[in-house]
Amino acid sequence: MTKRFYVTTPLYYVNAAPHIGHSYTNVAADCLARYHRLKGEEVFFLTGTDEHGQKLALQAKEEHLEPKAFVDRMVPRFKALWERLSISYDDFIRTTEERHKKVVQTLLTELYAKGELYEDTYKGWYCTPCETFWPKNQLEEGNTCPDCQRPLEEIAEKNYFFKISKYQEWLKSYIQSHDDFILPESRRNEMLSFLENPLSDLCLTRPKERLTWGIPVPFSQDHVTYVWFDALVNYISAAGYLADPARFKTLWPADVHLVGKDILRHHAVYWPIMLHAAGLEPPQRIFAHGWWKVGEEKMSKSKGNVVDPLEMIEKYGVDPYRYFLLREVPFGLDGIFSEEALITRLNNDLANDLGNLVYRTLTMMEKYFGGKIPEGKGGKGLTNGNLLKSIDEKMERLQFDGALVVIWDLIRGANRFIEESAPWKIAKAKDTKPLSSVLYTLLDTLKMVSLLAYPFIPATAEKIWNQIGIQKKISESSFRQLEEPLIQPGATVRKGEILYQKVET
Ligand code: MSP
Repeated sequence: MTKRFYVTTPLYYVNAAPHIGHSYTNVAADCLARYHRLKGEEVFFLTGTDEHGQKLALQAKEEHLEPKAFVDRMVPRFKALWERLSISYDDFIRTTEERHKKVVQTLLTELYAKGELYEDTYKGWYCTPCETFWPKNQLEEGNTCPDCQRPLEEIAEKNYFFKISKYQEWLKSYIQSHDDFILPESRRNEMLSFLENPLSDLCLTRPKERLTWGIPVPFSQDHVTYVWFDALVNYISAAGYLADPARFKTLWPADVHLVGKDILRHHAVYWPIMLHAAGLEPPQRIFAHGWWKVGEEKMSKSKGNVVDPLEMIEKYGVDPYRYFLLREVPFGLDGIFSEEALITRLNNDLANDLGNLVYRTLTMMEKYFGGKIPEGKGGKGLTNGNLLKSIDEKMERLQFDGALVVIWDLIRGANRFIEESAPWKIAKAKDTKPLSSVLYTLLDTLKMVSLLAYPFIPATAEKIWNQIGIQKKISESSFRQLEEPLIQPGATVRKGEILYQKVET
């Protein structure tokens, strides 16, 4: 049976247009999805939008729209950005869809019937922009939100609670016995120390008088669901939990949930407990990445410092933007976004290293062979077995920057190979064999480079395959095809224009 690979991104709030931080997770998930497709796995890549809650309702009101009309207007902006960024998602789930709402209600009913939920008065402090309750013991002076530092609202109301405290010990030992469940390790430790303190039970509802824009609670006319419970359930509703149980069985548990570090607690504590209480397995892995900052500050709408991904793509191109996000900062750490750093990556890694390698190879092909590919057997060019293994290990641990370093070593090695074999010298010899061999090796190396770089810079990689005379598209290929002689003697290369224009600084 083909291996399934199920990868998810968070569901984005649609109160504002997506910024670089949001595009980061989707680019990373896309890279992973494309890599696993190349491995021949059957990939299910899920993304979507989080559309309920007070914040959305307020925003809609400000714009004199019904909440549904407002979210309907925002969702296309997300889809348009994903299309522009070549995000190859397989499904897009909206929390306002029937297929999702049904699962949320079914799960609530099940938990209620099992006696997992109880009614009580909720007293506490609530951050409307973050949709998060904060228990008194986690607050600092002045009662501001520990995440966004904005003022909190004090609340006392009847609600339904989920007895998550009951599962605290189970979760702790689950995390302890599964090393790779939460990555990176620093985040795993953070969750373990969070679990050292007693968990407060999770308030799963909101009274309708305070909030109507949510999924109605089946067993109480006066309540709607808490927006986080609603949103987390998407990972099973889109996988067919109710609609297609046979398919669900093949997809669940998900292979990896990609999230930002600010929403790790929801994914690594509440979500596994919700699943466990419902008799389902936790996801295989949760990876928390860092934040893109501008200077010292997290990029966010509330801080007014967001960079528009569309503007960056317009200026520098889709692949340089994707490459920068994945190469500049180790996945898991924070990074500082700057156009200067992006330009440096574009000029050095893409235009100089990769662009030149392709340009020089194709120029020599035209000059010495009239563009016609010489004799050669088809192999893996200058790649060795360890290189593929090393990339695979890095991709398994989501070390995108590490995988790119290995690929760029190959590219730089190929540039050195040109210098060392000096084709312009051996071209003068009568025997054309050494020259054929050098150029064939270079073409074969370019085949490998583009295949390996494809998950990161898909459009560039496809372009190179086309330029070196391969008929197939990478998107329809897999690593298995490396056994075939893809570089065909007799076929012609197409030089075309250079891959990247350098940007003046
Ligand atoms: N709707 C919830 C997620 C529900 S998932 C079941 C949510 N949405 S969000 O739109 O506010 O944030 C979505 C993701 O964007 C989070 O993973 C968050 O970490 C990420 N980012 C938001 N700003 C970011 C940066 N400046 N940098 C990197 N990622 C950041 O939370």
